[in-house]
Amino acid sequence: MDLKSKREDLDSESIERLTLVEVEGVALTSDTAEKWGRIWGFQARPDDLLICTYPKAGTTWLQEIVDMIQHGGDPEKCARAPIHQRMPFIEICPPMFARLEEADAMPSPRTLKTHLPVQLLPPSFWEQNCKIIYMARNVKDNAVSYFHFHRMDQGMPEPGNWDQFLAKFMAGKVAWGSWFDHVRGWWEAKDRHPILYLFYEDLKEDPAQEIQKVAQFLELELPESVLNRIIQHTDFESMKANPMANYTSLSPLVMNHAISPFMRKGTVGDWKEHFTVAQNEQLDDVIARELGGSSLTFRTQL
Ligand code: A3P
Repeated sequence: MDLKSKREDLDSESIERLTLVEVEGVALTSDTAEKWGRIWGFQARPDDLLICTYPKAGTTWLQEIVDMIQHGGDPEKCARAPIHQRMPFIEICPPMFARLEEADAMPSPRTLKTHLPVQLLPPSFWEQNCKIIYMARNVKDNAVSYFHFHRMDQGMPEPGNWDQFLAKFMAGKVAWGSWFDHVRGWWEAKDRHPILYLFYEDLKEDPAQEIQKVAQFLELELPESVLNRIIQHTDFESMKANPMANYTSLSPLVMNHAISPFMRKGTVGDWKEHFTVAQNEQLDDVIARELGGSSLTFRTQL
């Protein structure tokens, strides 16, 4: 496929939406699937930190928090570049995101981002015993957020209407595959690997407590004044207004914030505005079936 016609040719009027291709049974966007060999062979380093999420679980929020912790709560240092350049997204193509080659050239210690499910993580991350921070978000809000993201990101596959998207989402026929497999796979992996497993809802409810958890995991001290600065800098309104965190630095041909802003609502419980009673019951059945045997539980309201 001619990738230029997909994401690289930003001079044209519009870009073409990507299609899905299965890699090891997981749906990935075609650009990622095409360079899968290169991604699988990615060389992690022992001092890499990996931020891992299912898409729309609050990745950017967690990235900004981590960057602030790593830079002593200095917002100027975190404004050095847009978030997608500060932390390479290992399976996504240029030009919007840092290239794998740029990640290779980046000095240590690096902080990297991925949405890959646990079984597709390049083996070098396990071999190097890298620290990983995983954040999960309840499936109902996650699905709603992903739907609106498909509408605004012109490179994502065509979402259809909400009913159509939700059916695909529940079947795992969306980019990065099944939400259920993702959250459960990483939940099980945390018992055999240095993984800090966080929840969007906890971070929303008590940012101070959750940010402290991240700092402890990174073995960094966080004085109260720095913690307070981080809380303020990374609250929803601040991040929505921050061009280095809100993705407005990308071409509107890629992300069209007029359709739906990247920083959309940032709440717990927005799913209630989208789900019918029948859809909610259907998803509850799927949750019971898919997560029933697991100790993993989610809150869908605060
Ligand atoms: P909504 O679409 O529900 O508003 P990701 O970064 O993984 O793509 O996730 C994006 C989601 O996280 C969006 O959810 C976005 O608004 C939300 N988000 C981003 N920054 C946030 C913050 N500081 N506080 C709460 N939610 C935030």
